[in-house]
Amino acid sequence: MKPRSLVNIEDYDKEDILRIIETTEKFKKNPNRSLLKGKVCATLFFEPSTRTRLSFETAINRLEGRIVGFSDTATSSATKGESLRDTIMMVSNYTDLIIMRHHLEGSARYASEISQVPIINAGDGSNQHPTQTMLDIFSIYETQQTLENLTITIVGDLKYGRAVHSLIEGLSHFKPTFNFVAPDELKIPKKHKLFCDKKSIKYREFTNFSPEAINEADILYMTRVQRERFTDLMEYEKVKNIYVLRNDMLADSRENLKVLHPLPRVKEISPDVDDNPKAYYFEQARNGVYTRQAVICDLIGIDVES
Ligand code: CP
Repeated sequence: MKPRSLVNIEDYDKEDILRIIETTEKFKKNPNRSLLKGKVCATLFFEPSTRTRLSFETAINRLEGRIVGFSDTATSSATKGESLRDTIMMVSNYTDLIIMRHHLEGSARYASEISQVPIINAGDGSNQHPTQTMLDIFSIYETQQTLENLTITIVGDLKYGRAVHSLIEGLSHFKPTFNFVAPDELKIPKKHKLFCDKKSIKYREFTNFSPEAINEADILYMTRVQRERFTDLMEYEKVKNIYVLRNDMLADSRENLKVLHPLPRVKEISPDVDDNPKAYYFEQARNGVYTRQAVICDLIGIDVES
């Protein structure tokens, strides 16, 4: 039987998501445990990363597991033409878990069909980033004390943003209302709107970063316009700095509002927001360690005590 993998956030149902939140709370209280002693985990990063790779590796180190892998394909035999299939066949012979980021949409699902060990999708092109969603959902729960009936305003690159695509699906269990703020070039794809329609999720689309979209939100989820996803750089130049959140724009926002961002940011959040108590993106990134500890233990089948 194939082991359980986390490829798409839909691989986790509502009960799974709530269980991961509970386990994440335990790791946030105490992240240093011997739970992965004797386990070897692979981190295969075919695309650049700072947070995802380093938080996974920190998570594993704090659980006393061992790590093999690469952060640059130039140092792997992929540069000699080795297929993804052969790479996964080999690495799944060596290790207990594979964490993979790859530029091709669907690559993580493909890897999970080949691998003898669980695969965690650390981002596949513009498709999905499920562990980002788990840390986003944990951060939302931590700051709002609930996940139900929240208004989430999502701003920026809604077309290529894999964190956005996963977040919409992950929150779909909790009756959200979405405000989608994007220029025409980066609008939320039709399939995600159809998904919302199917689940009776309310949403509105904005092309202006209007005070209304900010002031009615419980969560303001900013995203970067991703240069690496554009084939035509002239198109990127047109939209790269289209929305910039400045501190004064939060003056009339809700008391409970938190600003999240999957990071890295470029210019879409002005540095003057960083000192506002509503800015939560660095704590959100820190939560990546604890959430990823929870997901790893869940997939390997390790019970986590309080
Ligand atoms: N949020 C995120 O995926 O960041 P990295 O690209 O640095 O891993």
